[in-house]
Amino acid sequence: MSWLTNFYRSAVGKKAVMAVTGVFLFGWIFAHMVGNLKLYLGAEHLNEYAKWLRVMGSPAMPNSSLLWLARAALVVATWLHVQAATQLTLMNRAARPIAYGEREYPAATYAARTMRWGGVIIILFVIYHLLHLTLGVHVNPAPFIEGDPYHNVVAGFQIWWVSAFYIIANLALGLHLYHGLWSMFQSLGLNTPKFNAWRRNFATAFAAIITAANISFPLAVMLGFVR
Ligand code: HEM
Repeated sequence: MSWLTNFYRSAVGKKAVMAVTGVFLFGWIFAHMVGNLKLYLGAEHLNEYAKWLRVMGSPAMPNSSLLWLARAALVVATWLHVQAATQLTLMNRAARPIAYGEREYPAATYAARTMRWGGVIIILFVIYHLLHLTLGVHVNPAPFIEGDPYHNVVAGFQIWWVSAFYIIANLALGLHLYHGLWSMFQSLGLNTPKFNAWRRNFATAFAAIITAANISFPLAVMLGFVR
């Protein structure tokens, strides 16, 4: 096992952990976005889907067991992703203890420079989001009805500042996904000039699709298309 510990202690090992957990988290965010599109099909479809999440795997497995497995994997992946990111930042700082006076970013994009703050905004968003739509804690004036996610989403997004917060957080998520997808290939060693054009298009397309869909939900409620 010591080679595994040594690998994880190295910067390359931490980047690999970030890439692998990032792929998992990205896949989950993509699947969640696809599921949420059922908002446009109406209350029955979205609520039926939410119910299915709880019974998937049954009768072979007890209700909610697959959901809890997915939740546990999400928590572990998020923990490892944040831990590796924090340790990489500390390693970078230790390698250059004197901070740059006036930093210039000839190559780094805006997305690359905002990864850390973007990550913090996303974590704060997920905490708010879980309190709002999963746990039904009173974090806004909208009433919460257990087992009726359609109502909970629509009632929440009718409050302008809740919608504004979701839109800002999902823009931050979009930038984070764009740069994350781009650097994931780098960490996995897939970095050739010919491949780079492809991976830029891939990162742009997936980040744009997820951001556009996620932002469309609060906008659709605010504009009265979904009620
Ligand atoms: C505007 C976009 C979004 C909408 C409309 C939305 C909607 C929902 C709803 C209705 C639930 C509760 C589902 C249920 O109880 O069955 C939920 C749960 C959840 N959402 Fe979202 N979501 C959005 C974006 C996101 C994003 C961007 C993330 C992560 C970065 C996220 C992470 C989660 C998590 C972790 C859960 C809990 C899943 C569980 O354990 O059951 N959501 N979301």
